[in-house]
Amino acid sequence: MNGCNGRNKEIECKTPYFQTILEMFGPVLFNSMQFRKVTVKVKNMKKLHYSELGLLNTKDMFARAMTEKYAVPAYNFNNMEQIQAIITGCIRSASPVILQVSGSARTYIGATFLPHLVAGARAMVEEMGSPIPVALHLDHGNSLELAKDCIDSGFSSVMIDASHHSFEENTKLSRQVVEYAHAHDVTVEAELGVLAGIEDEVVAEKSSYTRPEEVERFLELTGVDSLAISIGTSHGAHKFKLKPGEEPPPLKFDILEEIERRVPGFPIVLHGASSVMIEHIEKINRFGGAMENTAGIPEEQLRRAAASAVCKVNIDSDGRLAMTAAIRQIFIEKPSEFDPRKYLGPARDELTEMIIHKNTSVLGSAGRY
Ligand code: G3H
Ligand code: 13P
Ligand code: ZN
Repeated sequence: MNGCNGRNKEIECKTPYFQTILEMFGPVLFNSMQFRKVTVKVKNMKKLHYSELGLLNTKDMFARAMTEKYAVPAYNFNNMEQIQAIITGCIRSASPVILQVSGSARTYIGATFLPHLVAGARAMVEEMGSPIPVALHLDHGNSLELAKDCIDSGFSSVMIDASHHSFEENTKLSRQVVEYAHAHDVTVEAELGVLAGIEDEVVAEKSSYTRPEEVERFLELTGVDSLAISIGTSHGAHKFKLKPGEEPPPLKFDILEEIERRVPGFPIVLHGASSVMIEHIEKINRFGGAMENTAGIPEEQLRRAAASAVCKVNIDSDGRLAMTAAIRQIFIEKPSEFDPRKYLGPARDELTEMIIHKNTSVLGSAGRY
């Protein structure tokens, strides 16, 4: 972070209400005071196990995805409309779902508020009489403290992303998270190799592919339940800079196959898997946006990955683009509109349709439950 003085600030609150207020306004306040990291904790906060929210960890989801050769979608969300669209799309397409939030998304929503949003999603599943399994996952967790905090507040799965550290440090931190998580029946995802783009405040200019020869040892030493690998995907809407008529380079399926050979049946995770759908980009640009030089992972490549040991596919950017396209259209076509329901509603519908499309035509997770 620019201009930081490297100091950390931890604040204890006496009530969840005070915590929510601090989470909303704390980062702005303390960033201006140049603290590097602000952690807000509720003193004596009541612990919440994910089973109380009707959630499941990812173990059985992945076992089934592996046998039946599809991938479970992991969709990021930051607000109510997104989680509603994700859950509706997955209920309607009978797909298992991993609802995931990054550390910054959790701060944005508010750690106290988040379990209530997720409880709402689970209630919707019940109300519709749907049998789909739902997990709540921490995306790109960057510390043991954050992982513990999430485990203690209703998460059924956590990622510890120490992939930009040395192999030894990555192994050590991942192992520490596994010890705490497994004691609470929470599943853990770790990462080997680095994706280009932004990984929750860690910016990598260049990717480094996963080295298959490190995988077995990493799994043995850490005991993680799934592994994110780097085979040519990256985060965000600008994955490749292509010249007109150029195709994105294919993913490194040779690396994936070598990993499958070394650890058969082990669940692999693909981050940075948005396709940057052309219809959304065209709509955004038609209605006043400026999204240039965008490119994502072609659907055909994702279909191939989903039929392999890849059991979880992370999608965030495509959801952001879908909502932005719908909102831009309303703002341009109806400039006098100012009722949030009139633009967030269509944005939610656009995202729901996108979720159904991904589950049905890309990941193969539709119709499984
Ligand atoms: O991989 C990162 C996700 O897209 C989350 O992004 O940290 O902006 O919530 P965020
Ligand atoms: P995209 O930016 O390609 O959607 O990737 C999201 C992701 O990997 C979240 O962890
Ligand atoms: Zn990611």
